[in-house]
Amino acid sequence: MPGLADRLVQPEILDGLAEKDPRAIAARRDLVLVNRLMFQQAIMARLLGDHVASPPRRILEIGAGDGSFMLGVARRLAPRWPGVELTLLDRADLVTPERRAAFVELGWRAKAVTADIFDWFRAAGDVRFDAVTANLFLHHFADADLARLLSKLRPIAPVFVAAEPRRTGFAHSASRLLWAVGAGEVARHDAPASVRAGFRGSELSALWPTKSDRLHERGAGLFTHVFAASRAEDE
Ligand SMILES: C[S@@+](CC[C@H](N)C(=O)[O-])C[C@H]1O[C@@H](n2cnc3c(N)ncnc32)[C@H](O)[C@@H]1O
Repeated sequence: MPGLADRLVQPEILDGLAEKDPRAIAARRDLVLVNRLMFQQAIMARLLGDHVASPPRRILEIGAGDGSFMLGVARRLAPRWPGVELTLLDRADLVTPERRAAFVELGWRAKAVTADIFDWFRAAGDVRFDAVTANLFLHHFADADLARLLSKLRPIAPVFVAAEPRRTGFAHSASRLLWAVGAGEVARHDAPASVRAGFRGSELSALWPTKSDRLHERGAGLFTHVFAASRAEDE
């Protein structure tokens, strides 16, 4: 097994499976469990609350999956952030009408966009959001593509926040124990692969396009690495 000093981005099995493949369905169920074990929804809700100064109107989540992650975040935030228009972007078409209805019950409106993130940027034109979020998404990209992605994100929102796997020996060992909570073969492969592709120190800050923004990067909980970038007020 390679060491953890440097990032190692390798293909994850889930990314190569068709949306309706039973192994993909099982892996997405396991992803809900992984998010729960990592306290990702609470971490993301807090990150947004800490870095988005006034209640946002429009939020974009990139790599949103089936929207279940953001629904849990919305449940925490909707009481103080009513009426948010949420765009859930993922290259897989996974957001069901039932999921969209669950957002409506909270007073949020969720729109799903099915596109590869780079294709979307090429086609989207002059889009603007109050915040962009990413959960367990940035680690899919090697540094060069990630730097390209971050430079495209900066102009479209004043705040970007991300919660990603933390690349530590402890997180890697824990990720290899997912069998103990009944996770299937895809998650048992993809979880340690995600940790090896994860982040530590100020690796994301180093890839952010400008150092003049307010950058905040640290470990959160036992397994998570968080990043927030806020543009200067007058931009
Ligand atoms: C590990 S899942 C996380 C999903 C969701 N954020 C969550 O926490 O449940 C990563 C997601 O990124 C999506 N993805 C990977 N590469 C992508 C790309 N280039 N463009 C858009 N979505 C992508 C996958 O389809 C997958 O749904």
